[in-house]
Amino acid sequence: MDTLLSAPNPAGKGAHTGAMAPICDLAALRERSLVFAAMTEAEIDELLRGARLVEVPARRVVFHAGEAGDSLYVLLSGKVKVSLLSADGKEAILSLMGAGDVFGEMSLLDGLPRSATVTSLEDCRLMQIGRQDFVQFLKRHADVALKLLAALSQRLRTTNNLVENLSFYHLPSRLARLLLDLGQRHGKPAPNGVEIGLRLSQEELGNLVGASRESVNKQLRAWADAGLLEYRQGAIVIRKVDALFMQSLTA
Ligand code: CMP
Repeated sequence: MDTLLSAPNPAGKGAHTGAMAPICDLAALRERSLVFAAMTEAEIDELLRGARLVEVPARRVVFHAGEAGDSLYVLLSGKVKVSLLSADGKEAILSLMGAGDVFGEMSLLDGLPRSATVTSLEDCRLMQIGRQDFVQFLKRHADVALKLLAALSQRLRTTNNLVENLSFYHLPSRLARLLLDLGQRHGKPAPNGVEIGLRLSQEELGNLVGASRESVNKQLRAWADAGLLEYRQGAIVIRKVDALFMQSLTA
């Protein structure tokens, strides 16, 4: 897979919310993000003033685990996956992120190498913010720093849930929990149910729940036959949320 080719903002440094109006919907960003919801327009403008716009085509690596990194990224549009890769090419997906989410803050804050690999799932627009700019901004805005801590706490909770799922539940329950969560966070209403607005391969679904592509395929087919969902070329529609919820309760 190709590594990210970053396209500098044609406007160069100095991109601000006024200049960004055509590329990002501030209201949507605020609605989706704990950190941005707490910020005034002037604060967002101040934070993004020194940032650089980076456009990443679908299915490119933004950065690899182990690389040095001194900037963080704000996802303006598109989706990315955060994953760990084993030496023999296996993948464990830790998180899926969408507009308003922030990643790359760990290396920025602790100075250690990137803890995971981040890959775009769709065409993405990102704002890249350097360490100096971000740290100075946090020093001026303690309230935003607190919101960032809250967002990181939520991330830890989500990772705890992931460990719980992998440790205590069998595949049907793990997969049902995942699909319900994806439906909640990335779902949109469809005529026949809730469509998960993410194109994930069965292998990626497996990498999210610690299972093989074959096991995921078997389970999805069983649920499709029972009318709980539809799965076609990566598009999943949950048709019976209640029935899927019952599946999530099985140990
Ligand atoms: P960083 O270590 O700089 O680069 C990889 C990024 O992935 C990391 O910062 C976080 O932003 C993100 N990340 C790492 N682990 C997790 C996790 N368990 N859940 C969500 N995001 C994570």
